[in-house]
Amino acid sequence: MAEPKVNELMEKIVSLSKRRGFIFQSSEIYGGINGFWDYGPLGAELKRNVKDLWWQSMTRDREDVVGLDATIIMHPKVWEASGHTSTFSDPMVDCKDCKGRFRADQVDNTPCLKKPSKMVTECGSDKTEPRAFNLMFKTYVGPVETEDNVAYLRPETAQAIFAQFKNVSDVSRQKIPFGICQIGKAFRNEINPRNYTFRSREFEQMELEFFIKPDEIAHAQGGAPAEEAPTDSPESNWGWKQWHGYWVNQRLNWYESIGLPSDSLELHWQTDDELAHYARATVDIMFKFPFGVQELEGVAARSNYDLTQHQEHSGKSMEYFDEEAKTRYIPHVIEPSAGVDRMVLALICNAYHEAMIPNAKGVMEKRIVMRFHPSVAPIKVGVFPLLKNKPELVEKAKAVYDLLKPHFNCFYDEAGAIGKRYARQDEIGTPYCVTIDFDTLGENPDLLDTVTLRERDTTNQSRVTIQDLLATLKSGLGLP
Ligand code: GAP
Repeated sequence: MAEPKVNELMEKIVSLSKRRGFIFQSSEIYGGINGFWDYGPLGAELKRNVKDLWWQSMTRDREDVVGLDATIIMHPKVWEASGHTSTFSDPMVDCKDCKGRFRADQVDNTPCLKKPSKMVTECGSDKTEPRAFNLMFKTYVGPVETEDNVAYLRPETAQAIFAQFKNVSDVSRQKIPFGICQIGKAFRNEINPRNYTFRSREFEQMELEFFIKPDEIAHAQGGAPAEEAPTDSPESNWGWKQWHGYWVNQRLNWYESIGLPSDSLELHWQTDDELAHYARATVDIMFKFPFGVQELEGVAARSNYDLTQHQEHSGKSMEYFDEEAKTRYIPHVIEPSAGVDRMVLALICNAYHEAMIPNAKGVMEKRIVMRFHPSVAPIKVGVFPLLKNKPELVEKAKAVYDLLKPHFNCFYDEAGAIGKRYARQDEIGTPYCVTIDFDTLGENPDLLDTVTLRERDTTNQSRVTIQDLLATLKSGLGLP
């Protein structure tokens, strides 16, 4: 059920991801299931690192954002209020010949199911008129499958934040402006899942809803003029434009901090036609994937649309009493909304390099090196005894492994020639390897209790004392 290969680079990335255990097709032994992907041992580590780094920067490093962990299934009225029940749909056409269902806006570049060499628009078959197809997955709560028991798997994590706005603001003692963030699964019955994990049917989102004063309140309190560029030090009386600009900058800085350079990203300001019904402005942060420049994250100014809708549909007040302004209002919101799976895919694509590296005999070889930023690399350090059949080397290497393991994810490997072991770690993006050899044991007394430290990107090797090893690695990995 895998989709057609897009280009040679993507083919290599998909193949490496499977071979080294980053990403597998879900239910592969049964032929897979379209739009669903599993993360293998290295992919699970990479994904966890991304989520931990996002959580750290969005809430733990800040005093004005708190977290939430809400359910995937919520009261169906949540989706009525948010507009998803009526508007979360794509116009679809059905092909009367191959019976495929395609997004009306994508028929031009989607292969026909019966004639894969042709595009759906060119295959010559009749199509139905476009019809709306709701993207929410439906299920039933309880044993009886009636319309009264219908519920949906959430298509975004954001709505739980709005639905819990009152509870969270009551318990957290936060004052506007403040945010609530959440990481969790979202589900969309995408018509054409494609570009590997990029458009999946089950995926994870990392969303922040940052609640701000309505512009009239902010400006009454001397807020900065809307044209003024935001700085890195937020002001409580900023209007939505400053907050919007601030969050776009924050997110761009974060992408750079995890190793996506600014020249791999582009900003796309959505046009009026593209804006969602709730948005005043949305900036898409786009990444240059091998299959094109595509959205990683949207930073939307959602006005007070969602809270107003929930107030109307639930009958519960969503108003906030602003002690500073001595007035009540429904807060407005800025929403940076990112996809974990897209970010992982962007990191994998960005890390993929083919380099000419000398093998053990000094002959140059083409090798894959995954140049992950150390903060996201699934394994930080590989630890090797030079030879596995020398118990003294193995014992010392295991002691070094035990020394490092509590501090970062390490991998102990004694199988095969040392060059092969370096190559295996390069291919999964391990920033450092440590080798324990006879000099470590004192064959050259000057080098007693020193190890070889090899850097992935430069392949440089240096000698470091075991005593200094942890501090050297921490500094190289950018850890405190
Ligand atoms: N709450 C706003 C919201 O959900 P969105 O642009 O529909 O906005 C936000 O989704 C992010 O979620 C996207 O930028 C993308 O990273 C991720 N995302 C959305 N649909 C996805 C899909 N089908 N597969 C993988 N990631 C997806």
